[in-house]
Amino acid sequence: MAKEIKTIGVLTSGGDAPGMNAAIRAVVRSAIAKGLNVKGIRRGFQGLIDEEIIDMDKRSVSETINRGGTVLYTARCMEFMTEEGQKKAADNCKKHGIDGIVVIGGDGSFRGARDLSKWGINTIGVPGTIDLDIACTDYTIGFDTAVNTAMEAIDKIRDTSTSHERCSIVEVMGRNAGYIALWCAIANGAENVLLPERYDGNEQAIIDDIINSRKKGKKHHIIINAEGIGHSTSMARRIEAATGIETRATIIGHIQRGGNPTCKDRVYASSMGVLAVNLLCEGKSNRIVAYKNAEFVDFDIDEALAMKKDIDEYKLNVSLLLSR
Ligand code: F6P
Repeated sequence: MAKEIKTIGVLTSGGDAPGMNAAIRAVVRSAIAKGLNVKGIRRGFQGLIDEEIIDMDKRSVSETINRGGTVLYTARCMEFMTEEGQKKAADNCKKHGIDGIVVIGGDGSFRGARDLSKWGINTIGVPGTIDLDIACTDYTIGFDTAVNTAMEAIDKIRDTSTSHERCSIVEVMGRNAGYIALWCAIANGAENVLLPERYDGNEQAIIDDIINSRKKGKKHHIIINAEGIGHSTSMARRIEAATGIETRATIIGHIQRGGNPTCKDRVYASSMGVLAVNLLCEGKSNRIVAYKNAEFVDFDIDEALAMKKDIDEYKLNVSLLLSR
């Protein structure tokens, strides 16, 4: 028989993402509307181990839907990777009467949710990462805001790049994932995009592209470089030396992780938060909320973690075709 849920916890874990607050608010308010108690766990799984557990009511999440970051703070926790850490966290859940937890974060956070569920605590994951790199879902909280922040920054770089007839390398976030880079490549009309999933290190091909596009009369040349490729500044120096064209590198950085969430991030995060609570109330555990084929659905965490996501070939071709 499914365990009766009376009290739920909510935590954010891993890198923050704009819209996490909207998800927390949805969890808190929809749970209270169902007559549940809600506990906020500060600083992710570390906070669960350290008993940073607070009572939340409807007013705890007032004035948060429009704010970036996470009001519960976040952390990456090594201790939770050990059995001792997991046991301590599960014991603290029992001590505080927490029957189920909503974990908002990325892949690493879902591994944490899976581990916690093995200790008898029901868990539901909500995808929150600017990287859009979770295979089971077409949407992750924060991507829309982050990619719009990056796009606006690159528009500005393009203005000055054109005025000076320069080449510009713009580094966007994504250590292992090139989605922000690829979307910006299309949205900003970049001439080249370097993705961690694809880049073969062939800098000569980029240099040839720059020389050819200059011959065709292009005034600027934008290269979008995902963080995982790195070395943007030294790459700029090498490109300038090889082409004779002034080249500058800009690393946009953590500005992409903050800021007021877009409408899409607020609406989707709210919808996912409500679904997570519904799933807990149905007695479900070890599941991830996802947005797939225009519907909010859920997947088994182990199955979701085993899924592979590759770069969208069609979008990559669109980007290459339209920037030539
Ligand atoms: O949240 C994902 C992400 O922004 C990645 O794109 C990036 O590589 C990483 O987090 C950086 O995290 P931090 O600088 O906070 O350690």
